[in-house]
Amino acid sequence: MTELTGRRIVFTEADMADHLGRLGRAAPDLHACVDPERARAWARVLAEAGDVRDDFGDDGAGGRGSSYLRAQARNLTARARGIHHLLSLVPARTDRRPAVVVDVLGGDGLVRRVANARRLTGLSVLTCDASPYMVRAAWAAGCPALVQRADRLLLRDGSVDAVLVAYGSHHIAADDRAELVHEAYRVLRPGGVLLLHDFLVGSPMDTWFREVVDPYSRTGHAFDHFTREEMWGYLTKAGFESGEVTEMADPYAATAPTAREAELELGRYLLDMYGLAGIEARYPADAARHTVERARTVFRAERADGSLEAFSVAYDPSAGSWTCTLPRTAVLAIGRKAR
Ligand SMILES: C[S@@+](CC[C@H](N)C(=O)[O-])C[C@H]1O[C@@H](n2cnc3c(N)ncnc32)[C@H](O)[C@@H]1O
Repeated sequence: MTELTGRRIVFTEADMADHLGRLGRAAPDLHACVDPERARAWARVLAEAGDVRDDFGDDGAGGRGSSYLRAQARNLTARARGIHHLLSLVPARTDRRPAVVVDVLGGDGLVRRVANARRLTGLSVLTCDASPYMVRAAWAAGCPALVQRADRLLLRDGSVDAVLVAYGSHHIAADDRAELVHEAYRVLRPGGVLLLHDFLVGSPMDTWFREVVDPYSRTGHAFDHFTREEMWGYLTKAGFESGEVTEMADPYAATAPTAREAELELGRYLLDMYGLAGIEARYPADAARHTVERARTVFRAERADGSLEAFSVAYDPSAGSWTCTLPRTAVLAIGRKAR
């Protein structure tokens, strides 16, 4: 059993054996990619470490995991546009079998669930996460999952078609990032891709984390974002034969019957996603409104043509609903392993 101790978690060798057994039964294609010796060795390290800090653990234990899960459950499609784009970059396999995607910062399986909801075919997603709390939530949501650290992949050499590192790459310590990219190169098949997604230092997302999430979240949020040069350096050092560092639209969106409700729904999403307990405490009657107003001022960016990309609320007559959209631009490093 996974035991919660304060803000920390304990994960045992028996837990790993249990997860691998479940994986073998639920998704033999994904189980075949796991190196059992690496998995056992990692479980031993975790057991000996005794406890590991887990910001995405249970709220009751000092993490912000349960409010994070609530946000995704309430609005599964809030980040669907970006997720869909990332998955569209996974190369199809020549043998027509589903392409294996390792979702390294997988949480409770949001990427897999969005792929299912959008009926994206030809993909088999393995949800991985360092947090046993999140991995347990992924299994509960029907997503095959594995406790694994980004810089210590438990997969066999040359076994997977895509390694996705997205929606939280800044949580990976700067000292571990080069090793993560090396590991991705190791586990990719020839022709496979690494998709390393985050936000640029100095971007509106960086400001949001620094000025809002860090002071008001339950766990704080003092993490370094990425630069283009840093990302490119990891790709070349790891040996990727080709690749690029580019940008992609990755908005937040919320839909509701009225414009006002759509705005508040987006505010609610951000409150839960980032565990903004400090804002809830300061504005108990209208925390969602306050949050969306703050976000509106932060997520404004000038496009290359000088026009302003900003918060919008639009009516969709075919659906009879309003959608509130907060623009975000993510940075994406794509590493391609030669065929
Ligand atoms: C922001 S959540 C993203 C979850 C999911 N992909 C989503 O978009 O909702 C980031 C996840 O990365 C995990 N994480 C953070 N650092 C990690 C690391 N070094 N290795 C593996 N997982 C890590 C956290 O436990 C958390 O569940």
